[in-house]
Amino acid sequence: MTAVNELIQGLDTRLRIGSDRAEGIDQIEVIDPATEQTLTTVYAAGTGEALQSVDAAAQAAPGWAATPPRQRSDILRKAYDLMLEREEQLAELIILENGKTYPDAIGEIRYGAEFFRWFSEEAVRIIGEIRTAPRGDKRIVVLPEPVGISLMVTPWNFPSAMATRKIAPALAAGCTTILKPASDTPLSALAVADILTEAGAPPGTVNVVVARGSSGVVDVMLEDPRVRKLSFTGSTEVGRILMQKAGSRILRTSMELGGNAPFVVFKDADLGAAVEGAMLAKMRNAGETCVAANRFYVQSEVAEQFTNLLTDAMSNLRMGPGIDRSNQVGPMINSAAVEKIDSLVSGAVDARANVLTGGSAAEGPGFFYHPTVLSELSPDAAILGEEIFGPVAPVVTFDSEEEAISAANDTVHGLISYVYTSDLNRAFRVGEAIESGMVALNRGLISDEAAPFGGVKESGVGREGSHHGLEEFLELKYLAW
Ligand code: SIN
Repeated sequence: MTAVNELIQGLDTRLRIGSDRAEGIDQIEVIDPATEQTLTTVYAAGTGEALQSVDAAAQAAPGWAATPPRQRSDILRKAYDLMLEREEQLAELIILENGKTYPDAIGEIRYGAEFFRWFSEEAVRIIGEIRTAPRGDKRIVVLPEPVGISLMVTPWNFPSAMATRKIAPALAAGCTTILKPASDTPLSALAVADILTEAGAPPGTVNVVVARGSSGVVDVMLEDPRVRKLSFTGSTEVGRILMQKAGSRILRTSMELGGNAPFVVFKDADLGAAVEGAMLAKMRNAGETCVAANRFYVQSEVAEQFTNLLTDAMSNLRMGPGIDRSNQVGPMINSAAVEKIDSLVSGAVDARANVLTGGSAAEGPGFFYHPTVLSELSPDAAILGEEIFGPVAPVVTFDSEEEAISAANDTVHGLISYVYTSDLNRAFRVGEAIESGMVALNRGLISDEAAPFGGVKESGVGREGSHHGLEEFLELKYLAW
């Protein structure tokens, strides 16, 4: 048995409800996407356990809101230390349940831990206001208060970091939490909750409810009047449904939804740097991120050179299970993901795209898809309008800056855009004209705990990370004096 399997064996796979460990109504198999083998089974909640977790969060809420900020901060800081102490084991857990390569998995643990550190620093700097009213005879006092019980629904592509990115600001603000992790990857979420408990988070402040998608667990919590906030990361389709449900209860929501990131390369760009950035933006987590570069627009003069360099880089990647640390591309999360990618690529090929490398799923076991570069796409190819969520780079050429901006904005999404140019004026001009919540200028990776992460249009509402991420969990009370 490897050390990793010992970690899985040692992990209590029951639900975390207050100080209880509950077995729920069902069990879910957790599959290693690199081997298709079952790693373990976890207990899954029904609506009864979901409501018990709201009870636990409600019971803990007044005490946690009244806990001194310094104490909340110390707990988060301790969680940061514990996460880094155990980074190797936690990374291997991600490799096993999600399929990431080692660099991506360890990168996620360090990224995720930083949310604990950042929000431990923010917890003691929650600032209110006192002002003299314009007529001079009154005072306006503004008190930030915790928004209340916060429900967090997290995705499988960052099973650890999306949990810490939501739980850390909520706890810093004085909210109690219920985490519903993706059922494909519940182990990392349970491990995060245990770290917080070990760091001193009181029972009921962090509850974890693993459940099957169809179990009604999220609905029943959203309908409970004690729940005051929904923070969701996932697809726009699911986000739309959850937002409608949250809307009927007038809940505060933070929605981090799908993207369709353009990666724009101008003829004046440093092409070596652009390809390096493209590989990061496209191949982090084998393309399974909402910030993955989804469409490459390259100015005609440099299109052939860029495409050749990109094709070389993509075709030289070593694909295989992340447990072998030399592998650079891991599997997709499941067979449905591979089928979706394959059908987008086939559709592009039917519409006469050129396959420069890849273009097919790999032989099993494991849900692998070959890194792929497509060229000669028509501007209306379906693959340019859909979030691929896989290792496929479609390249389209453009002639003018206006054309590039209009192609980049031709989407209902607006999460992130990448722009490569060595002209500073162009960088800012295009950066301002592009409709997305984040713009990466000559960078292939910009995720940062200290920066506001989030989208516009159908990519979501609200921001995570930075002090703005904390504000999502605060209400402002106006005291008139
Ligand atoms: C995501 O893909 O949902 C998050 C990516 C990131 O935080 O960098």
